[in-house]
Amino acid sequence: MKITIRLIVSLVIVVALVALAFSLYQVNRERDRLAGDLERRSLILAESFQESLAPLIQSSGDLRLKRIVDRFGNRERLKGIVIFDRQGTVITATGSLSLNAKRPSAQAVNTILENRSVGNFLTIDGQQTYVFITPIAEENNEAVGALAMFYDSSYIDVHLREIWKHNLIQFMILSILVVFATVLVVRWSITGPIARLAEWMRDVRTVRPDTTGCDVPLRGDILSPLVSEVTELAQSLSIARKRAEEEARLRLKSESLWTPEGLKEYMRTALKGKKLFVVSNREPYMHVKEGRSVKSIVPAGGVVTALDPVMRICDGVWVAHGSGDADRETADVDGKVRVPPEEPAYTLKRVWLTKEEEDGYYNGFSNEGLWPLCHITHTRPEFRQEDWICYQKVNQIFVEALLTEIESEEAPLVLVQDYHLALLPLLIKKERPDAKVALFWHIPWSNPESFGICPWRQEILMGMLGADLIGFHIQFFCNNFLDTVDRFLESQIDWEEFSVRRGEHRALIKPFPISVGFDEGIVGPKEPQDRATLRETILKEIGVQATHIGVGVDRIDYTKGIPERFRAIERFLEKYPEFVEDLTFIELGAPSRDHIRKYRELIAETEEIVEKVNRRFQTRKWKPIVFLKALHSHEEINRYYKAADFCMVTSLHDGMNLVAKEFVVAQSDHSGVLILSQFAGASRELRDALIVNPYDIEEMADAIKSALTLDVSERRERMRRMHTIVKEHNIYRWAGKLIGELTHVRLADE
Ligand code: G6P
Repeated sequence: MKITIRLIVSLVIVVALVALAFSLYQVNRERDRLAGDLERRSLILAESFQESLAPLIQSSGDLRLKRIVDRFGNRERLKGIVIFDRQGTVITATGSLSLNAKRPSAQAVNTILENRSVGNFLTIDGQQTYVFITPIAEENNEAVGALAMFYDSSYIDVHLREIWKHNLIQFMILSILVVFATVLVVRWSITGPIARLAEWMRDVRTVRPDTTGCDVPLRGDILSPLVSEVTELAQSLSIARKRAEEEARLRLKSESLWTPEGLKEYMRTALKGKKLFVVSNREPYMHVKEGRSVKSIVPAGGVVTALDPVMRICDGVWVAHGSGDADRETADVDGKVRVPPEEPAYTLKRVWLTKEEEDGYYNGFSNEGLWPLCHITHTRPEFRQEDWICYQKVNQIFVEALLTEIESEEAPLVLVQDYHLALLPLLIKKERPDAKVALFWHIPWSNPESFGICPWRQEILMGMLGADLIGFHIQFFCNNFLDTVDRFLESQIDWEEFSVRRGEHRALIKPFPISVGFDEGIVGPKEPQDRATLRETILKEIGVQATHIGVGVDRIDYTKGIPERFRAIERFLEKYPEFVEDLTFIELGAPSRDHIRKYRELIAETEEIVEKVNRRFQTRKWKPIVFLKALHSHEEINRYYKAADFCMVTSLHDGMNLVAKEFVVAQSDHSGVLILSQFAGASRELRDALIVNPYDIEEMADAIKSALTLDVSERRERMRRMHTIVKEHNIYRWAGKLIGELTHVRLADE
């Protein structure tokens, strides 16, 4: 619009200037022409009685002169005539002339002296008058007097005003035409084609199903020079896309490498322009107050680590509990905020819960009930009726938030995450049977006996089975789940297909081993320093002198086997004293769920063990264990991964454990060693780790010794193999497989 206005204003100014110049020229010419006319007419008149006037002036024939003057002085527009003698004194004048005209005239004297006629426009008595003075000469050409003729010249001004008026109207009509023509031309030739081109380019970019590909909607327009370039660009894009689609298809078949680009392309085809909806309890970005400012933090935990890279690629909406103390002020009225804050790629919709709801649903039922129920870690689950009521209520709150988001989406794809939202699939399906719903269970599924102690086991199973697809990390958990359903629910189980049918609805149960992004950018920036320099820097930062570093990274949770790990370090130093002052183990522990007594007790217990081991072995410049209790960013953690000789993952029970995979990814030089619990899902894939039983302290102490003394080539070979596995079985593959499977699910009425 701006360009149209600019164009119109400039054109109108140009037209105005041209019209003004033209009018001035025309008016001047017209004035000259009319003045010339008057002069000519005056000369003819003067000549007609020139001869008779001179002798009369000589002979002072005033009466006759008066008669002549009266006779000629009344012609069209001639107001009167005055005759002067040689001194410029009025001899006679037309009676009707005003007194001002009849005065002695210096001009008349000049005319006589110079013997030359003069015409002038004057205002006499407020009237525009043309005065023409001409000498009256004898035969010998000597002037004896002068004749002045007074014409009413006001008609010239009237005529010139008419010309101005006329030209102004012309100018206005021209301006309207210019505005009209400019708007039309700009629309037809500039903004129209640009809008069509932009729409076409958007279609090409987003591949709307009805887009034919490379047919540029421009023909002979002002933008036509662009056509060939844009057409080529579109053709290249189309070819590249076809190749990528083909690659994605082949990748699915041949299991070759999944990349962010590949997943993006695959999603474009699989989702057909639809958005992806994720629902989880934990949000991927939390805003918290720090003094007067607000900062965004990434909470610790597998769900966020795994799904954020996927959402960055796929876009869509992630519904989660807004638990940061600055979450409300950073979201809009609908609780929405685009994330990641530094490079927004998808929408986070926050759900608000009261303190009581959070207590009953999150701390109570989810983390004191279901969490220990699913993890066999000898922590007794606690089930309270009021927590269960809260859990149902909050699941309802989440479903309502989601339903608003998917309202206008036809057959939406929804990925529900984890044990906090077990009832969600059924609640969604009740309202939106057309939705395709997957539930991914990020924690283990123990066995029917353990699960059977839950008073609301049937409700939970029914809620979960509302999903079309239920994913676990490993086959073992799928088997346990089907056994549990078999034991507690009336249903039809297909052991071959691994599905549960209840009425018309069928839920598929499948393993999808979750993973991490195989992209340095996602795990953290590439560390420019080599391992030795980095190790030195870190040791300086923590104020310890040592030769080797071991690292542990955990959310401080009793399932992670942190005290067991420290006991193993104590035993290692006891058993292999040559490593005193040689190895320092750094634990990066993120405090978690601190409203729950068990977790507070665990922190106290952990600190106590650290203190005990340190007191026993530490020297002036060295300590065996450095416990850094804080939430560390992925970038910080990555530095420790890269500097460490080994990493210990000693979970007592764990769905997958992504720390193990993150550590492997960070070993670009294949140098580190992974010590991994046999009870972590990751041990199924990372078989080249030093696999340990975390309850066996002796075995763990020996594993630490092996990690530090392993032959370099074997160490590298083991890590190289694991590196390849994680690289291939990355998070993009996980998302591609899970979402691919979900899109292929056939609903009951399809
Ligand atoms: C595990 C759970 C996740 C959870 C994470 C962190 O990985 O499977 O659902 O988000 O722990 O726990 P938190 O209670 O802090 O969300």
